[in-house]
Amino acid sequence: MSRLHSHSALLVWVLALLALTVAAIPAFLVTPRYSGEAQKLADPTYGPIPGESDHYSSYWGVDRPFPGNISDPIFPTQCGPPAEDDYTWQNLLSAEWIIFEFYQQGIERFTDEDFAKIGMPNTTRLRLMEIRNNEAGHLRIFQNQISPTSIKPGPCKYIFPLRDPRSYLAFMTVLEISSMAFLTGLVREAKNDWNQGVIAAISQTEARHETWALMDLWKANPFAGPSDTSFPYANQILYSTQGLIVPGSCPPENPEYPHPRQLLPALSAASDTESLAPGATITLNFTNPDNQPVFHPSTQYYAVFFHSVLNASVPLDTKGFPQRPIVVTIPAAFETRGVIVALIADQPGAPTKESVVAGPAVILEQPVEMGPELVRGGGT
Ligand SMILES: *[C@@H]1O[C@H](CO)[C@@H](O)[C@H](O)[C@H]1NC(C)=O
Ligand SMILES: *[C@@H]1O[C@H](CO)[C@@H](O)[C@H](O)[C@H]1NC(C)=O
Ligand SMILES: *[C@@H]1O[C@H](CO)[C@@H](O)[C@H](O)[C@H]1NC(C)=O
Ligand SMILES: *[C@@H]1O[C@H](CO)[C@@H](O)[C@H](O)[C@H]1NC(C)=O
Repeated sequence: MSRLHSHSALLVWVLALLALTVAAIPAFLVTPRYSGEAQKLADPTYGPIPGESDHYSSYWGVDRPFPGNISDPIFPTQCGPPAEDDYTWQNLLSAEWIIFEFYQQGIERFTDEDFAKIGMPNTTRLRLMEIRNNEAGHLRIFQNQISPTSIKPGPCKYIFPLRDPRSYLAFMTVLEISSMAFLTGLVREAKNDWNQGVIAAISQTEARHETWALMDLWKANPFAGPSDTSFPYANQILYSTQGLIVPGSCPPENPEYPHPRQLLPALSAASDTESLAPGATITLNFTNPDNQPVFHPSTQYYAVFFHSVLNASVPLDTKGFPQRPIVVTIPAAFETRGVIVALIADQPGAPTKESVVAGPAVILEQPVEMGPELVRGGGT
């Protein structure tokens, strides 16, 4: 009896110690160089709530809206394994910081007059603010979707085309449609049905932003035909944004972005490209000098183009590369709308992510004349 007693006393003591340790852990996990302010955001009810507050639509300040004004990573508040979709939401939150900052910096950099001078509507900057607010709402939604056992990444420093208002708006147009194509792939990564639905809902918001840009800014037809482009390898698109991140500028505690990643060579069309419309013949440029593809002489490589729910493969002549550049014709059969996502693979149709050896590149087909402009502007 007394033996049992002492056992349960020990158990109580161990449990008490355990509870103390668990309670104390969050404070210990915050790296000392952070104030701890961001930890308030671990509570999903802290601050304006997306879907309830109009903060994520109609905040008209220039200063960063919540939670974009709090840039420290949010450390886990509970111990345990990550939830099944935490990597997916972490990837999405890291990508969202890029998009949020792109709008925020554009709003800080350009005035109403800057947009008026290039013939844009007088509501342009106001709409950009509204989109920025939507993106701030995405930040908050993604923070809340990451479970309390995983870190919620903070922003890095970024490099954006902010030289002039036109290239800024052109880049915005490709960024929105790239987000959409990327989300069609990311939805496949989420294991939980509810999360798949949330990702689909976010992609609708990006499509509305794109529709506004096409109609109001470019006076173009807003429709992309019967289907937007579905691209299966979301993390490859995310990795292609690496060029926008100032090297070494991310919070060191942030998870790898994206995770998992393949470190594929970046792909673009050469800067003298005159057309990226279906049927145009282009020269390929692998834009990162430190990450060039290696083509094995005995392997047949293909440029694989994804458009709508189709893909088409074009065999490549890689002999003599890099001395002899690689040229390819964009499939003429594709309708000139929406986007084409292009990559290099060692199998026709790029049936697995491992078959991809370079890219992807997102080619804007609408407005089609903007594609070459983006290539020269160092766009994607
Ligand atoms: C961030 O914005 C929110 C809402 O506007 C505000 O309440 C909060 O004080 C701001 N925090 C910081 C650190 O600027
Ligand atoms: C903005 O443009 C619209 C239509 O082009 C015009 O009716 C309106 O007066 C303008 N508003 C301002 C504030 O300039
Ligand atoms: C290829 O891309 C690099 C990096 O953007 C650029 O400096 C170079 O001029 C491009 N080459 C061609 C042929 O377009
Ligand atoms: C490309 O299309 C082919 C033929 O329809 C299909 O078998 C293949 O799975 C597609 N590739 C991807 C990555 O979806």
